[in-house]
Amino acid sequence: MFRYIGSKSSTSANISSLISDMIGVGTVADAFGGLGTIGAELRKHGHRVTTCDVLNFPHSFQIARIEGKAKLPFLQLRDQAGLSSMQEIQDQLNTTKAPRSWIVQEYSQQRKFFTHDNALAIAGAWHQIKRWHEAGALTRRETALLITSLLNSMDSVANTAGTYYAHLKTFHRKALKPFRFEWFPVVGGRYVGKALRGDALSCLQGKNFDVLYLDPPYNERNYASYYHLPESMSLLQRPKTNPERASGMPVGVRPGASSIRDGMTMGYLEKLASNIGWKWLIVHYCDGALIPLTTMRDSLRHFGTVQELTLPALGYTTHKIARTINHHVFVVSAATRSSSRSLCHA
Ligand SMILES: C[S@@+](CC[C@H](N)C(=O)[O-])C[C@H]1O[C@@H](n2cnc3c(N)ncnc32)[C@H](O)[C@@H]1O
Repeated sequence: MFRYIGSKSSTSANISSLISDMIGVGTVADAFGGLGTIGAELRKHGHRVTTCDVLNFPHSFQIARIEGKAKLPFLQLRDQAGLSSMQEIQDQLNTTKAPRSWIVQEYSQQRKFFTHDNALAIAGAWHQIKRWHEAGALTRRETALLITSLLNSMDSVANTAGTYYAHLKTFHRKALKPFRFEWFPVVGGRYVGKALRGDALSCLQGKNFDVLYLDPPYNERNYASYYHLPESMSLLQRPKTNPERASGMPVGVRPGASSIRDGMTMGYLEKLASNIGWKWLIVHYCDGALIPLTTMRDSLRHFGTVQELTLPALGYTTHKIARTINHHVFVVSAATRSSSRSLCHA
């Protein structure tokens, strides 16, 4: 699975059972949805899920996992390219190479993000998906499943310590493995959810949910910079880069970066809690993060009765050995919220 800072894959089952214990099944919003890990787990357990992210590449994962299915029809591709099954699509993506691509030049020849052979294959698949997209041969969910599968497959051979902020000086063992496009395993669920792209406050304000789940960025590493390459590739556009920069980061201001900076603050979390309707609010946070836990506790008390759980979880690490950290899960019940503060909750 794609390595993502703040991924909740080691605690998603705990969060899902916590929510099921609270509400049975119902509506849940995951405002900082990331790769859709929590949303996918909730969807699997019968909840109606809405997710949001300001970046496009997590949004693609969310469309695939929250709205999509493991098998999609690809009807236009059948008509236009004569590919009659997902196996044939996969085979085509695994045989196309693009030697003159910017992905090969900039991320393999100029910088060591991929071996030359892997860059040829990754670029081949990317340009093919882009051509199909531009020919109008893909639906929104088909594009998202293709992009998600490509990025997920690519990440397993990326020559990085986990993010795309920098590449390693010499090729790591995992980068030497041959790239293969594999379909992302979408689990699905009873209901088709909704994946929204944009600033969480703008996307979700005024809407009502049984549970509002908040898993905000917890350190200074800005996702827009640390995942610039998957973000550019998900947009199906070549980024303009500065040849002098070792990271290959696109020039100019990264879209979404200022929303992500806002998302790091208690003031922004308070705005979400005040402007989105909820019966239960869950804030998932960890030790030693940007907002002190005492500040979080004091602030959340204004929104209702607060219970606090601690979960041991695997922290993000650039080393081989997993790092265990404590996650704090604050559960706020709106039932006891004073009427003067209650806004638009359901
Ligand atoms: C801690 S991660 C979420 C990880 C997710 N729970 C998972 O398991 O994959 C935070 C996410 O929030 C997104 N984000 C940060 N600020 C945001 C904002 N103001 N609006 C929408 N998304 C935001 C980031 O792009 C990032 O994907």
